[in-house]
Amino acid sequence: MSKQGPKDLVDRMTDRKATISVVGLGYVGLPLACALAEAGHTVIGIDSDPRKVEGINGGRSHIEDVPAHQVESLVKGGRLTATSDYKAAGVSDAAIIAVPTPIDEFRVPDLTFVRSAAHSLAGVMPKGSLVVLESTTYPGTTEEVLVPAFRDRGFMPGVDIFIGYSPERIDPGNKTYNIHNTPKLVCGLTKACTEATIALYGTIVEQLVPVSSIKTAEITKLFENIFRGVNIALVNEFQVICDAFGIDVWEVIHACSTKPYGFTAFYPGPGLGGHCVPVDPYYLAWKARQVGVNTEFIELSGRVNASMPNYVVLKVMRLLNAGHKALNGSRVGLLGVAYKKNSSDVRESPAIKIVELLKQEGATVTYYDPHVPEFMVDGHRLRSETNLRNFLSSQDCAVVVADHDAIDWTLVLQYSPMIIDTRNVLGKLSPFTPKPSTRVDRHLTREGQ
Ligand SMILES: NC(=O)c1ccc[n+]([C@@H]2O[C@H](COP(=O)([O-])OP(=O)(O)OC[C@H]3O[C@@H](n4cnc5c(N)ncnc54)[C@H](O)[C@@H]3O)[C@@H](O)[C@H]2O)c1
Repeated sequence: MSKQGPKDLVDRMTDRKATISVVGLGYVGLPLACALAEAGHTVIGIDSDPRKVEGINGGRSHIEDVPAHQVESLVKGGRLTATSDYKAAGVSDAAIIAVPTPIDEFRVPDLTFVRSAAHSLAGVMPKGSLVVLESTTYPGTTEEVLVPAFRDRGFMPGVDIFIGYSPERIDPGNKTYNIHNTPKLVCGLTKACTEATIALYGTIVEQLVPVSSIKTAEITKLFENIFRGVNIALVNEFQVICDAFGIDVWEVIHACSTKPYGFTAFYPGPGLGGHCVPVDPYYLAWKARQVGVNTEFIELSGRVNASMPNYVVLKVMRLLNAGHKALNGSRVGLLGVAYKKNSSDVRESPAIKIVELLKQEGATVTYYDPHVPEFMVDGHRLRSETNLRNFLSSQDCAVVVADHDAIDWTLVLQYSPMIIDTRNVLGKLSPFTPKPSTRVDRHLTREGQ
């Protein structure tokens, strides 16, 4: 347990002998907890969800990127334990907060989870320890929420509690970039706080990128996600334009990508999903309004991206119409309902809105997703079909929402009477021979052509 100043703390981090609490064991927290434990630290995972706690202590993983055998061996080796009791953090040298940062129905940041974690930690962290916020949030959060929580408990930030911010850049499912080789932004409230934060992450991340202020680190993360959201909105709108001209948008993007400078490829899709890109931009929009600044690009891109499920349904209608069928009474099957490829994450997935819209128009909707056995839409539980061939044969139209590798796309081409391919997954099949009767809503261009 740390009782001393940052030198003592930094040494324990650098020697990989620290005890570290990770608060929030989700998509961000569990991989982080495992990486720290693998590095040699003793890790206490704190999560308010008792099922996750029980699962981890039982050697199971609820995150696809974290293999169960890794959790099991860390737990058995005494490097990782999980609990819902914050008192356990009382022996920590450092705590990292990785709790959700959602928005409410008015797109206002909801910092309930961050506040709760901050207050709980402030009641138990020892003097001389480090607390780092990883959750994505608006500039000012660390200083306006985390720091006061500790001040109120008699801590003097920068003297007997070290405070840092280091946004997570994890990309679930990415096989190339992981927690170790993705450069990580770091910043502390004071020089000593920054040193302690660097010492902590230096044991698991190859390249750390210190920035000059915590607000800079907070807004940098937001800009990364806003950049993505705005560019996806641009290409989504561009897809609608290309469709109107009968031009294959995927071929255009591929052609643009041959330019060796000044172009970055983004791809259209059925709409945004996940906990980050559809949500984070509104954190900045809300905070910017407080200082009298309008965020036109954020609002516009949010509207364009949010309209994509409607566009997908319009395409289904048109395709059915071309086959002399009405959407009302037709059977429409979704292929993949997760918000991204090879993931089970359905948070904010466009599939939810697509199902709602299709049902509103009188369609019968089912889905097939090997990663998502069930998911909730409008209070109703939907369960994945298990036999792809039977599923496809019984549909009037199939809609590709998530292009999982676990779906046999050749079978999809063979057995679907009509397909809306929002991900160009069929265009990437090579070689392939669609059934002569199969109607696909776009030109099938092979990637690389
Ligand atoms: N998922 C991503 O790909 C990703 C990437 C970068 C950044 N982020 C950011 O990281 C943060 C966490 O996201 P996530 O995807 O890991 O969320 P998540 O929902 O997967 O995990 C959060 C965990 O926190 C737990 N929790 C909530 N309140 C708690 C509390 N008061 N005390 C203890 N545990 C609590 C929940 O039970 C859950 O297990 C968010 O700010 C998000 O924007 C996420």
